[in-house]
Amino acid sequence: MFSTQRVIRLAARSFSTAVPLQSKVAVLGAAGGIGQPLSLLLKANPRVTDLGLYDIHNTPGVAADVGHVNTLSNVAGYTAKDTDGLKKALAGAELVVIPAGVPRKPGMTRDDLFNTNASIVRDLAQACAEVCPKAKLLIISNPVNSTVPIATEVFKKAGVYDPKRIFGVTTLDLLRASRFVGDKLGRIADVPVVGGHAGITIIPLFSQVEGLELSKEERDALTYRVQFGGDEVVKAKDGAGSATLSMAFAGARFADSLLRAAAGEDVLEWAFIRTDLYKSEGVEFFSTYVKLDKDGVKEVLPLPATISEYEKDLVKDAIAELKKSEAKGTAFVAGN
Ligand code: NAI
Repeated sequence: MFSTQRVIRLAARSFSTAVPLQSKVAVLGAAGGIGQPLSLLLKANPRVTDLGLYDIHNTPGVAADVGHVNTLSNVAGYTAKDTDGLKKALAGAELVVIPAGVPRKPGMTRDDLFNTNASIVRDLAQACAEVCPKAKLLIISNPVNSTVPIATEVFKKAGVYDPKRIFGVTTLDLLRASRFVGDKLGRIADVPVVGGHAGITIIPLFSQVEGLELSKEERDALTYRVQFGGDEVVKAKDGAGSATLSMAFAGARFADSLLRAAAGEDVLEWAFIRTDLYKSEGVEFFSTYVKLDKDGVKEVLPLPATISEYEKDLVKDAIAELKKSEAKGTAFVAGN
């Protein structure tokens, strides 16, 4: 059996172990399917010094439970019933992770969640713009292709917008792509996944993985599996929601990447961000290669020139779809 110390060491080892930085992380939607395991993983991360957990209900229980994990960070949980609960959770946050909102049920697309989640993300982004405008926002709530433009418009309206600090978290697509080719490759490698975070907008760049050779059939099947991998989980959960545990793992990885970058490490990630890369084609948000530093985005990199013709075609299809989701998100804030 593992000793407690060994379990903590193992958890901490999944993250970087260099000098901890004073970093408060707020999780909005912390009592949910993603929020709870994400809060646990953040508690295990030695770089996190404070956790501010917020949800409309049940957060004190999550905070009390997670708070007994023996790392030195402080945990506080607030609900909508607490006076200024949301503000207290956000005060002083360096990162704000947002998995608040409803998940999919079988047969639903991510866009079907728009009507409920758009206003949740808008209101939470508004609070962030007021309380911690310099924090980095990590948006998990779907549809990411629209919720990131929503948060962006809210920050613009509040006069505190900085494109370097708002991220749509697409890391789960990377984990899936990496895992799905892992057995064939015989190792776990990062597979760049670009575009967006819904169906055909999800584009795994298998051409960029060293040593990976795929037949046309394998390439097509793997690409489809990454694009619609979320559906496998929704179907298996049979009405009880979508990916939560793997998403928590993915969210914790992306948060750790930002904390490592804030501590001075060179970090390359992939995320859905504001960029001019495809502006001439009518799209201002795209998931691409991003170099991170203490301010968030240090540099947005274009897709490698060596991507395949097949992948170039996928990008074209994605842009048409991304345009619609972006316009929907932007119009939602403009109309309110
Ligand atoms: P869930 O229903 O288990 O949890 C959501 C939590 O948000 C609940 O505890 C709820 O009380 C809370 N919430 C609702 N309104 C709120 C508000 N105004 N303020 C604070 N908290 C609020 O859902 P789950 O499974 O955790 O999924 C959350 C979101 O993450 C969904 O929109 C889902 O589609 C999305 N998701 C995104 C992924 C990605 O790759 N970006 C992957 C998987 C899910």
